[in-house]
Amino acid sequence: MKEELLQLSAQHGTPLFVLDHNKIRENYRTFKKHLPRVQCYYAVKANPIQQIIETLFSEGSSFDVASYNEFMQVYQYIRHFERKEKKYFVWDKLIFSNTIKERTALIKTKQYKPLVTYDNAAELKKIKQYCDTAGLVLRVKVPDTGSQVEMSSKFGVEPGEAQNLIQEAFDMGLRVEGISFHVGSQCINFDNYTAALAITSEIFHEARRKGFSLNLLDIGGGFPVPYDSQVPQFEKLVHILNYEFERLFPNDIEILAEPGRFIVATAATLVTEIIGKARREGKMFYHINDGVYHTFSGVVYDHWIPNFSAFKQGDLEICAVVGPTCDSFDKIILAVELPGNLEVGDYLYTENIGAYSTASTTKFNGFDGAKIVHTNLTTSF
Ligand SMILES: Cc1ncc(COP(=O)(O)O)c(C=O)c1O
Repeated sequence: MKEELLQLSAQHGTPLFVLDHNKIRENYRTFKKHLPRVQCYYAVKANPIQQIIETLFSEGSSFDVASYNEFMQVYQYIRHFERKEKKYFVWDKLIFSNTIKERTALIKTKQYKPLVTYDNAAELKKIKQYCDTAGLVLRVKVPDTGSQVEMSSKFGVEPGEAQNLIQEAFDMGLRVEGISFHVGSQCINFDNYTAALAITSEIFHEARRKGFSLNLLDIGGGFPVPYDSQVPQFEKLVHILNYEFERLFPNDIEILAEPGRFIVATAATLVTEIIGKARREGKMFYHINDGVYHTFSGVVYDHWIPNFSAFKQGDLEICAVVGPTCDSFDKIILAVELPGNLEVGDYLYTENIGAYSTASTTKFNGFDGAKIVHTNLTTSF
């Protein structure tokens, strides 16, 4: 792998974001294999690069989108299904899972009869007014303790309020199809999933008892990536999930999930170049040509702790790695083991950087950010 990275960097320059589509396929297939009852709606927000969508579309994936633009990024591939039953294909391939949608997004997606989430009464009114063709999924607040990125402080109705919001939707002539939750991103505490399934199954059965024929469960994202050896195994999680699906939910419902990180994080490696070095209060600072305003934006938005490796060997010491901008905030990591003898022009590489990285990069200070190269790209749309 190192050889290939060096070769690609010589060819394309750095910073270089090397995206391996075989790995994306492998992650998707692993997900499907272990969760046979679950349809995978890749969360485009994790990395919206168009070729990722194409690779996953070819694999049979569906997609979770957060905005009208993301909706159209995917919709273009199902446009040609229009003459068949359009609603079926839109729902089958897309869920608009941002519980708060702009009015313009609702107006523009109305014609596609989208499947959308909601978690409050004001959103229901908006959906009724601007997009009453939609199918609804109620997002419920669930525990997200210990997850890298918490969700429940911003999204989800309190479980005790769920029946009212379901009732309210039906009273307005809207149709609630099911229930969703998100246990927080990079969820390493699997009790969150167990609790979430228990909470949603109760709401589900109660709603059915009242005559509302819910038929969909959306278990969101959160599936953890093995960034380090502390992360519990995916296999352990799927065992819990499959068992709880059987135990808590009827067989006739559809189950879907919205994995983002799990599909793309391990598929990318970033190669950066040391553009400056200085010993500051005894510690070696390597200044590299990418930083927190660019591909390492996940350090800020995703609470991610990146890893660094050098191509060259040398005596290891605790170093800092910082970005190229003039902002002192642009520090990627202040304590990482690297050889202390690296020189300007040497390269570093960072693995598992495929999720929440290029997705939130900026052009701050005039830096363009990493060039993206694709390996094992086989689709042609
Ligand atoms: C509604 C929703 N679904 C899915 C995801 C993807 O989560 P993850 O990357 O943890 O799988 C997110 C992440 O923010 C989200 O907000």
